Amino acid sequence: MDRIFSGIQPSGEIHIGNYVGAIRNWVQLVNQYECIYCVVDYHAITIEYEVSSMQRRILETATILVACGLTPDKCTVFVQSHVPEHTELTWIFNCVTPIGELERMTQFKEKSKQHRHNINMGLLDYPVLQAADILIYKAGYVPVGEDQTQHVELSREVARKFNARYGETFPEPQVLLSTAPRIAGTDGQAKMSKSMNNAIGLLDPPEVIQEKLRTAATCPHRERRSDPGHPEHCNIFTMHTAFSKTDQIDHVEKGCRSAGIGCIECKELLSENMVEELSLIQARVREINEKPGYIIDVLKSGASRCKTIATAVMDEVRQKIGIKSDW
Ligand code: TRP
Repeated sequence: MDRIFSGIQPSGEIHIGNYVGAIRNWVQLVNQYECIYCVVDYHAITIEYEVSSMQRRILETATILVACGLTPDKCTVFVQSHVPEHTELTWIFNCVTPIGELERMTQFKEKSKQHRHNINMGLLDYPVLQAADILIYKAGYVPVGEDQTQHVELSREVARKFNARYGETFPEPQVLLSTAPRIAGTDGQAKMSKSMNNAIGLLDPPEVIQEKLRTAATCPHRERRSDPGHPEHCNIFTMHTAFSKTDQIDHVEKGCRSAGIGCIECKELLSENMVEELSLIQARVREINEKPGYIIDVLKSGASRCKTIATAVMDEVRQKIGIKSDW
């Protein structure tokens, strides 16, 4: 079975954008591939963060992954820092990665603008750590969103550079692009993110979801109930395509275009479907939280499985680069 690797940051509240864009796609892959999913805590410290809540965020992120169906019988879930070989391999990769390539990364340029006072080495090196995450398991496929394709492309280059210098060792990983719709924030404009205050959290209670949807932006061209709408410009419609059944999507699309149904009705249907799907996940989160030590055990056994692969690859790498010692 081909191996998959992907990672998610422990960035506080996981929202429906993360769920639809990444996690739900990951769940669909577990039967066809050997999947390794990682909570990337070392990536998360490249920008300023709240130290006191980090531990909670790591556990909450892992709990959500498991609650969404990434259970230990189907795949491996673990925390990046629990397998220090990731950072060890990063150092070796640093020595074959041209700085110019890293300076060209879109995410580095954006984050450098957002965090002007903390443009640290880790921010620049972020994609090399990501390459090490993937290649330490010799994973062939990486399910990510569009925004991460440049980083996976860099991983391919790192693999090529390493192989050219030290001999064939790593496969060139390929992106598995999710076909999931891209959900914007509730403002209908920016990317959904907690810091923009436009996110619907995966753990938001039903009333909160209802309220956030009630006030969320719709098609900007539809001012009055009698105006025909344009679903292709409406973020609420995009959410329908992610949470509603085919016949319902059809119904709201036609109804909106003909002004047959209004935004309120359209949002109510969405709200019902979203609450139904998220309630199941939330119930599983509660179950997991009721079992003391359960998620920690999942992460420990995940790390131990990964460690076995990672130590073997690191041995091979040390040998290839001429620093293996048997004494
Ligand atoms: N950079 C990714 C993101 O922000 C997270 C990530 C870290 C990742 N390591 C990875 C994704 C390895 C795929 C493979 O979404």
